[in-house]
Amino acid sequence: MLRPEYPIETERLLLRPYREGDIDVLHDIQSRPEVVRFLYWEPRTREQVEQVIRESSSQIECEGNALELAIQPRGSETMVGDVVLMYRSEAHRQGEIGFVLHPDHQGHGYATEAAGEMLRLGFEQLGLHRIFGRLEARNSGSAAVLERLGMRLEAHLHENEWVKGEWQSELVYAMLATEWASLQ
Ligand SMILES: CC(C)(COP(=O)(O)OP(=O)(O)OC[C@H]1O[C@@H](n2cnc3c(N)ncnc32)[C@H](O)[C@@H]1OP(=O)(O)O)[C@@H](O)C(=O)NCCC(=O)NCCS
Repeated sequence: MLRPEYPIETERLLLRPYREGDIDVLHDIQSRPEVVRFLYWEPRTREQVEQVIRESSSQIECEGNALELAIQPRGSETMVGDVVLMYRSEAHRQGEIGFVLHPDHQGHGYATEAAGEMLRLGFEQLGLHRIFGRLEARNSGSAAVLERLGMRLEAHLHENEWVKGEWQSELVYAMLATEWASLQ
């Protein structure tokens, strides 16, 4: 069970649940082809983004739940991206992280900072044993985030998925709780 108090404060960011006022920014992010290029979904309509906000969750009660949080720089009124921690398996104590930033706000380390907080919550509060991140093999920006966090490249699956009309390859990065502890 993981019910953080919001907002979560990191050095430069607030991580908080979505709110209705996020619709314009989130739509601006999720409707861009360059943002969803290596994600499973197509650019989203405003209605789809409204549904994302409506159905998002900010606490984990059981396997399958996720923290889906807006990333908001301190001192700013608006979100610039989102970060997620998914509780993938209770039996195996496995979690997965993900992140997306508005292109105008990339290059500042915000994704690394927000995802690092998801690792901390996952290991230190949810008691996870292993947290992984998966990405399309050409998504170098995403791989760089996971490497900066200290995650290990565990697998390169070649053309394991048919996505957006082509065979895509997948990288799997991961970190164990013991590795997290030794980094602290
Ligand atoms: C993946 C994604 C979030 C990475 O964004 P990003 O801005 O490159 O990542 P960060 O926020 O961690 O920033 C890292 C960059 O900021 C720089 N930086 C500046 N200040 C920094 C700081 N204090 N700490 C860390 N990095 C800092 C780093 O050097 C790096 O720059 P570089 O790419 O020129 O080396 C972004 O490319 C994205 O949203 N992509 C589309 C969605 C997507 O594919 N998501 C991943 C799905 S698997």
